[in-house]
Amino acid sequence: MSNSKTKKTYSDMGENYKIKKEQTYDERNKLNDLTGAEWQFATKTVISKIYPSNLQHKLRSQHGGQKPPELCKDLIKTFTKKGQIVLDPLAGVGGSLIGAALCDRKAIGIEINPKWINIYKEVCCLENLEEFPVLCGDANERLKEIKNGSIDFLLTDVPYWIMDQLTHTRSDAAERKSNLSKFNDKDLQTKEEWLAEMKNIFTNAYPALKEKGYMAVFIGDMYRGKEYHFLSADLAKTISEIDGFILKSDIIWHDDSKMLHIYGYPFAYIPSLIHQHILIFRKENR
Ligand SMILES: C[S@@+](CC[C@H](N)C(=O)[O-])C[C@H]1O[C@@H](n2cnc3c(N)ncnc32)[C@H](O)[C@@H]1O
Repeated sequence: MSNSKTKKTYSDMGENYKIKKEQTYDERNKLNDLTGAEWQFATKTVISKIYPSNLQHKLRSQHGGQKPPELCKDLIKTFTKKGQIVLDPLAGVGGSLIGAALCDRKAIGIEINPKWINIYKEVCCLENLEEFPVLCGDANERLKEIKNGSIDFLLTDVPYWIMDQLTHTRSDAAERKSNLSKFNDKDLQTKEEWLAEMKNIFTNAYPALKEKGYMAVFIGDMYRGKEYHFLSADLAKTISEIDGFILKSDIIWHDDSKMLHIYGYPFAYIPSLIHQHILIFRKENR
């Protein structure tokens, strides 16, 4: 008699178990340098590893939206082989570029604010890391200088939506803008304007990526103006509308270093967002 509570044995798991045991590299692997076991680990849809505050974290924290270089390195190792090229068209203080240097990949960045480029350069110098070129300017323009199909992996992190004044209730919009301007000097904008801006950037980035290449995009949801804004879902839909970008996964990065807040206490439930999304797309025909 079968018992639904009986634990599956490894032989029941068949192929999965075989992969799990596979500690060697498969010569047919055209995507990365991982063994079967490492590949299997890398397909997990939740990342709950705690990343250290290293690599000049304090200096990079002037940005406010910086990502852990070692998280970027883990993603880069999943989607590239040694020596391949990563592009970040919204590079900030260079989390993705530093991540590429940490695993012997090459990289190129674009960043509109020269202050962040200078911090990236300083970090490379202080940490004795390979410094990659970062083009200064609007990604929509500078992406035209990157040869079509020359990029193996696109890894980026979108600028925050600077919320429209009408939907903002917690503090006055001017104060909000001054807080946000430390990493983005744009005026307040509607969600639709923000999504249109993002669509433009990804449409312009598309030609640079090689056929069958992957793209990973960091995006956090927001709770503002009385409601939860599912920005990750909105952005996933917007990028999927660009012909040739197919959504492959939504990885949740559980960031346990985030401080909890008590905005609603003791009257209403307001979530403490301690996760971000990493949307995975592939350049291929539908
Ligand atoms: C969320 S941050 C990226 C942070 C980055 N992952 C890091 O580790 O530092 C997005 C960056 O995009 C830049 N940016 C916004 N619009 C841009 C545009 N049109 N062209 C180039 N850079 C832009 C902003 O200045 C900001 O530094």
